[in-house]
Amino acid sequence: MSSRTVIRGGLVITASDEIHADVLIEDGRIAALAASGTPAAEAWTAERTIDATGKYVIPGGVDAHTHMELPFGGTFAADTFETGTRAAAWGGTTTIVDFAVQSVGHSLREGLDTWNAKADGKCAIDYGFHMIVSDVNSETLKEMDLLVEEGVTSFKQFMAYPGVFYSDDGQILRAMQRSAENGGLIMMHAENGIAIDVLVEQALARGETDPRYHGEVRKALLEAEATHRAIKLAQVAGAPLYVVHVSAMEAVAELARARDEGLNVFGETCPQYLFLSTDNLAEPDFEGSKYVCSTPLRPKEHQKYLWRGLRTNDLQVVSTDHCPFCFVGQKELGRGDFSKIPNGLPGVENRMDLLHQAVVDGHITRRRWIEIACATPARMFGLYPKKGTIAPGADADVVIYDPGAEQIMSAETHHMNVDYSAYEGKSVTGRVETVLSRGELVITEREFTGRAGHGVYTPRSTCQYLN
Ligand code: URP
Ligand code: ZN
Ligand code: ZN
Ligand code: ZN
Repeated sequence: MSSRTVIRGGLVITASDEIHADVLIEDGRIAALAASGTPAAEAWTAERTIDATGKYVIPGGVDAHTHMELPFGGTFAADTFETGTRAAAWGGTTTIVDFAVQSVGHSLREGLDTWNAKADGKCAIDYGFHMIVSDVNSETLKEMDLLVEEGVTSFKQFMAYPGVFYSDDGQILRAMQRSAENGGLIMMHAENGIAIDVLVEQALARGETDPRYHGEVRKALLEAEATHRAIKLAQVAGAPLYVVHVSAMEAVAELARARDEGLNVFGETCPQYLFLSTDNLAEPDFEGSKYVCSTPLRPKEHQKYLWRGLRTNDLQVVSTDHCPFCFVGQKELGRGDFSKIPNGLPGVENRMDLLHQAVVDGHITRRRWIEIACATPARMFGLYPKKGTIAPGADADVVIYDPGAEQIMSAETHHMNVDYSAYEGKSVTGRVETVLSRGELVITEREFTGRAGHGVYTPRSTCQYLN
C-alpha cells in the first residue's frame, strides 16, 4: 500500500532554485515536483493534501553539530535525544548529527555503542553521529577506518580542554593522516587550550571570576592561532579540515587564506556568534553565564566578518552546537569561578528561524539560507541528496514555513529542556508551520504530532564537498 501526500501552492526553495511548485510525496520520499496549476500537478491524487499557499516549502534543516546529553564539567547537557530532537523538529530541523564521545582509555566503539543506546528509539527525527576522538593511539586509528565504513565518517578533535578532550599536535597529525587515507573528515575545535589554561589561572588569581572573563581569556588570537595550526597540519597530512564553531574574525581570515590557496578547508559558525556578543557575557547577576560557550562570544564587530564569510563561502555551514545547561543548578556551578561554568548554549530549535531573520535583515539570500542550513551540511557530512534538498528520490523531510508570521523567542514557549532562552524577547519574522520527516507529520500546523522512535540512525557516506 503506497501512501501519498501532495503539498500544493507553495514556493519551493532549495539551495539552487525557487519555484512555485507542487510536491508529490510517496512512501516517505519525494516522488515528483511540478509547476503549480499545470495539468501534470493537477492530475496527482493523494490521501493527504497540504495547502502551502503563501508559504515556503523548504528542505528540513540539517543541524550537523548537537550535543544531546553530553557529559561536561561534572554535569550533562539538559536535552536528551527525546527532548532535543522534538525541539529540533519544532524549529524545522529534521536531521541532527550529534557527537558520540570516546573517553580517554576507552575505544571508539565503546563510545559509539553508548551513544547509540542513548538515542535508539528516542528520536523524533533522523540522526547520525560524528565521533569525538579523545585518545589517539594505534588502536583508535585502526578503529577510525572501521567507523568510516560503517557511516561514522567524521571525527572531532580538540586543541582545547587539556586533560579532557585535548589532543596534541602529534595526535592531531596522526588522525589527519589516517583520515587522508580512509576518507574521514577531521572536525577541529580550534582554540589553543594550553595557553588558555594559563590565562584562566592568572585571571582567577587576580579575582576575575565573573562570566565575562571566560570571553577575555579565550582570546580571538588563540582561536586564530589554533585555526592556522590546524590548517597547516591538515596540509601536511594532505587531509581536508572542517573547523567547528568559528567565532573570531581572525579565524575567518585564516580559513579564507587557506581556501584561496585551494585547500579543502571548511568553516562552520553558529547563530550565537552571529546574533550575540560579549555584551551578553557581561550581563550582571551571573546572567552572563547563560552565554558561556567555547569558542566564546566575541565583541559585536566580529559579526560582520562572519556574515561576510557566509556570503563569500569562506564559511559554509551554520550549525547550532546545541549544548544546553540550565541556569539553575548547572550554569550556577560556576558562581565564583567562570572556569566551572559548563560550556554550551541551547539553540537547536532556533537556528532555522534566526537564519530566516538573516534573510529578512538582508545578510543572506533565501537560497543561501537553505544552502548553509540544509544542503551544505548534508553534503559536507555525506547525507546528500537523501537529506538537504527537495528533489525526486530525496527523503520527504519537508518544512512548510510561514515567512510572514511574527514570533517572540522565549523560554516560556520553546520546547528545549532548558530554563532559559539565549534569545529571550527577540522578535523574528517567520515561523515553522508543518514538518514532515520521511513523509510523516511531525509538526502539524504548530502541533507536535510526531513520536519518539520515528527518527532512525542514518549512516553517512564520506564528505561530498571536496574540491
Ligand atoms: O561550549 C561548547 N561549545 N560546548 C560544547 C562542546 C564543544 O566544544 O563543542
Ligand atoms: Zn573501555
Ligand atoms: Zn568544540
Ligand atoms: Zn560542540
